[in-house]
Parts: sequence; structure tokens; C-alpha cells
Amino acid sequence: MVNTKHLTALQKANEEIADKKDNIKESPYRLKYHFMAPTGWINDPNGLVQYKGEYHLFYQFYPYASSWGPMHWGHAKSKDLVHWEHLPVALAPSESYDSGDVKGYGCFSGSAVVDNEELVLIYTGHVDGNSPQQVQCIATSQDGISFEKYEQNPVIADFPVDGSKDFRDPKVWKHEDKWYMVVGSNKDGKGKAVLYVSDDLKHWDYKGVAAESNGTQGDMWECPDLFPLNHSHVLLVSPMYGTQNEKPFYVIGDMDYDKGIFTQGIYRTLDYGFDFYAPQTLIDDKGRRIMIGWMEKWLTKMPSQQFGWAGAMTIPRELILEDGIVKQKPVPELAQLRSDYKRLDGFEVAERTTINESQEPVSEIIIDFDMNETDAALFGIQLRCSEDGKQRTEILLDLDQKEIIMDRNNSGCGEKGTSKAPMAVRPNGRINLRIFMDTTSVELFVNDGEQVITNRIYPDDNSTQFNIFTKGGKVRVNSIESWKFDSVWK
Ligand code: FRU
Repeated sequence: MVNTKHLTALQKANEEIADKKDNIKESPYRLKYHFMAPTGWINDPNGLVQYKGEYHLFYQFYPYASSWGPMHWGHAKSKDLVHWEHLPVALAPSESYDSGDVKGYGCFSGSAVVDNEELVLIYTGHVDGNSPQQVQCIATSQDGISFEKYEQNPVIADFPVDGSKDFRDPKVWKHEDKWYMVVGSNKDGKGKAVLYVSDDLKHWDYKGVAAESNGTQGDMWECPDLFPLNHSHVLLVSPMYGTQNEKPFYVIGDMDYDKGIFTQGIYRTLDYGFDFYAPQTLIDDKGRRIMIGWMEKWLTKMPSQQFGWAGAMTIPRELILEDGIVKQKPVPELAQLRSDYKRLDGFEVAERTTINESQEPVSEIIIDFDMNETDAALFGIQLRCSEDGKQRTEILLDLDQKEIIMDRNNSGCGEKGTSKAPMAVRPNGRINLRIFMDTTSVELFVNDGEQVITNRIYPDDNSTQFNIFTKGGKVRVNSIESWKFDSVWK
């Protein structure tokens, strides 16, 4: 039976996009090679999946305003993870379990899997005031473009004994011949990932708590993602502490599918920046585990909102388990955007040296510092620096504290603050920084993705200087390479 309520809601959303998208394209702060919605608000990436050879990205979407509202699933696809084609909206609120009157409701976060030829979305229907307010639902598509909500939704109609009314963000994957689902929840002040198992994606049996907070890892777990990596399993969590969303972390551990228990080993912050939340992964046909995060955070100042849009995704990063930690490597497909290669080799900096008066703001930069030939204990770089030096984004390396700091207190009109990550000199005496800059973002990968810092910055257009400085002593720069990056939004 055709669900006209859903079709009508989708059509309305698509008309809104058609109406607004050309104006938004020209709006200030638009990024050049990061994924953004055509208009309106986006948050979490959803339903990352490869289907018939193409990558699909869905996302939490409110097309009608630049702030959060009743959630739709926006949709795009890509052949290379770099160039994205916007597709019609996949899900819109339309049913008693995902739609309501004036309060918060919608198709909340979730995931996608391919079952035979079908693309299946698994999401949380949320309606403020319903009891229970959050249930798990599915929608299917034969062509990867139009989705029908399952008539017998919800497929999980209530939260389990170990959970609570906060019961959302299903992530589904296949292990051997069964489907597994982790859902974020909480109870007794502890964030939890509860586990379900199914043969057909429609009937789900509750297995128990796969993992929960050790008491310090948050009292509500949003967007859990659990997947195999090498011979271990990795759990990603976006934790809340009270109503405050904190930095997502990863846990390396072991999964016992019979018992349904993930035993936690080491855990670390995934990204030390302010603007990284709700990451999700997919596995592709090359066997790569690729993660994309929301490059923004709840309750922050978003200067683009005044122009009718907000939110973007990070660049796709491959997750690699290496040296006992999870490293993040920007996918090599991004290299096709490089042009205008510049390289400087072997030089020393004392105090402050301008490397480039007009660094291309949309670019990739790789800097290799040689610590064997460095006596400065505190040194760094300035990005998007104004001529008078007042506006700047500083990356500071503190060898004594073994810390790397991104300081955006003078970065322009966005949020301020400093992000700190632990930093170690590599066994070969080097420290390597790889920086992806876009018009209003910086993603910093330290030592081949051991640590990452992602921040949005909003400098003036003419703040383009690129400097290296020390606070006493000298630093030896082994090499600097840089490329201008092309826009993917033609
Ligand atoms: C995470 C989150 C999810 C929820 C969605 C709502 O950012 O709060 O838990 O499903 O956003 O848009």
C-alpha cells in the first residue's frame, strides 16, 4: 500500500530544498570539499553504506530552518567518497511513532545495511510525549533512492529492562549469518550499548548489555558503533554527561557474540577538537573501515546559521588498528583534489618566520619537524593569520607537557577555546602534522593519525598568512609540503 503521508512529507521537503538550494550555494562560510546539506540544518551522519558499488551517506536533516527541528534523513551518494551527489530526502516524519504536533519528533539517527538487493535503513522513531518516546524502525528501498517505511513498524517497540526511555541510534551489522544491533541507552547513571539479534531485520531478540560506562564514560551513550577491526572489535561512543555532549571515544576490546558481551580494553578520545560528534563507520568493498563524523557540536555558535544553513561532515577517515591504538587516515581518494604543489626542505626557524604570505585557505599541508635538531620546547604554526598577526589559529607543540594544542581564541567570529591532545615524538625523532584546511574548518592529524583535532574556524577572507614560530630556541623543519584543494561543489 502506498504511504501517501510519507510521500507528501517527502515531497514538501524536496520542494523546500529546490526552492532554497541556489541561494545557499552562494552563501558565506560554505565549505569547498566537505559534505554539507543543500539547505537547512544537518547533524549526525546516518546509514553509511556501500550499495551497488556506490557510497551512500544519509544524515540528520531539517530542511526548513538552520536550527534543529523534526528530523528527516537527507541523502547523498558518491563513487569516490569525495564528490557527492544530493538525492531526494529519504525519510520524513509521517507516522505516529516518528511524528507529532508541536514538540520534538522525527526520524532520529541510525544505520543502513544491504540485505540481498534491498537497502534497509534502521532508525529511531522519536516523539516527545509518546510512551515509550523512542522505538526502532526500518525502511526499505529497491533502488537506493526511494524508501518505504515498514508497515509493521516499530520493529523494537520498547526499551529493554537494562535501558530507559533514552533508547536510540541503532547500528546494525552482520556477523556470520545473523544481524546484530547496538542501541544507545542508559540506566542508573551509566551510558550503555544494548544488543539485539535478528534473522530478518524485522524480528529482534534482546541479548543484553554489550557494554556500559565504567562510571567515567558518560551517563548516556549516543550513536554507538561496534565493528571488527583486525582481530579485535572496536566500539565508538558519543557520550553525554547530563545534557552536555562530550568528545566521542573509541574502545578496543573483544566481542563474544554468544554471550553478547563486548569486553573493554583501552579507550581513547577519537578526536580532541570541539567540532566532532556522532561519528559512524562503514566497511567498503576494499575492506576499509571508514568513519565520517558530524563536524560541529550541539549548543555551539554556528555563524552560518544566519545564512540559512548549519552543519557539515568531516572528511572520510579510514580507521586502522596499529601499535595498539586506532589511527585515523584521511582516505587517499582526497588526493585527487590536490593541485599547485609546493615543497620546502630543511630549514630552521627561530622566533617567527612567515612561510607564505597568502597560504591557500582551502588546502592540505604536511609538516615534518625534526626533534633531533630542535632545542625549542615550545613552537608551532599559525594558520589563517592576518597581516597584523591579531587574527590567527595557532597550533602549539609543547614538548615538556607532551601536548599539542589548537588555539582558536583569535580565529575570527566563531567559538573560541583551546583543544589539547597528547603528543609524542616518533621513534625516528620526528613529529608529523597533516592539516586539512577548508574555508571554515581545520582537521589536524598528528603523527599519521595517532591523534586528531577537528575545529571550525571563521576567519576573515584576507587572513591568509602561514607562519612558523618558536617561544625561545630553534625548531628544525625537515619539510613542508602543501597543495591547494579544488572544490567538489561545482
Ligand atoms: C546525536 C543525537 C542522536 C539523535 C540525533 C537527533 O547527535 O542526539 O542521539 O538520534 O542526534 O537528531
